[in-house]
Amino acid sequence: MKQITLLTEAFKNLKTVGTITFSSKFLVKNIVAPIDFNKARCIVELGAGDGCITKALLEKMHPDAVLISFEINDKFCEIIKKEVNDKRLHLICDSAEKIGEYLNLYGFEKADFIVSSVPLVVLPKEIARNIEKEVTKTLKSGGIFVHLSYSPLQLKKFEKLFSSVKLHFTLLNMPPAFVYICRQAA
Ligand SMILES: C[S@@+](CC[C@H](N)C(=O)[O-])C[C@H]1O[C@@H](n2cnc3c(N)ncnc32)[C@H](O)[C@@H]1O
Repeated sequence: MKQITLLTEAFKNLKTVGTITFSSKFLVKNIVAPIDFNKARCIVELGAGDGCITKALLEKMHPDAVLISFEINDKFCEIIKKEVNDKRLHLICDSAEKIGEYLNLYGFEKADFIVSSVPLVVLPKEIARNIEKEVTKTLKSGGIFVHLSYSPLQLKKFEKLFSSVKLHFTLLNMPPAFVYICRQAA
């Protein structure tokens, strides 16, 4: 799919995509940095988009690890299916509200790491709340939730949900972005 088609699709679905550009290589690097790939055997990705984070995760993942990636946009799912051929990837063209259901389907109770770029700030409140509930329910004790956002205003909310939260800023992205690194209580 041409870049222009990709941008048009993002523009048409601004309320679910949340931006008209995908993450830069600098931002992707910062998003995957908190993940311990020696330990991770089950990683969940929320909002795969064009697959920029998906590919970076697969590049670093252990050969026995599994990546369950959620994406609700059919066109973006098509792109990933065409571009990524890796048996470790289970691409779920469905809502990130269903993490638990799909973890069970692939034989996992909980995820070691959850990496999210779904626009929690612009999604309808109920959907955002459902996703946050699923994340806290399905993340292992001591596991890490990495969330990309363009707003630093989610800090207080995440501090209530997780035992520790760090906030990193990436300037080299359009728009500049924040990466929340949230640890589930042990
Ligand atoms: C900001 S884009 C991020 C795309 C890509 N991961 C990146 O970093 O550039 C957010 C993505 O989340 C997807 N999305 C929005 N709501 C979703 C939901 N409920 N479940 C799964 N994906 C969702 C959108 O379709 C979009 O592709």
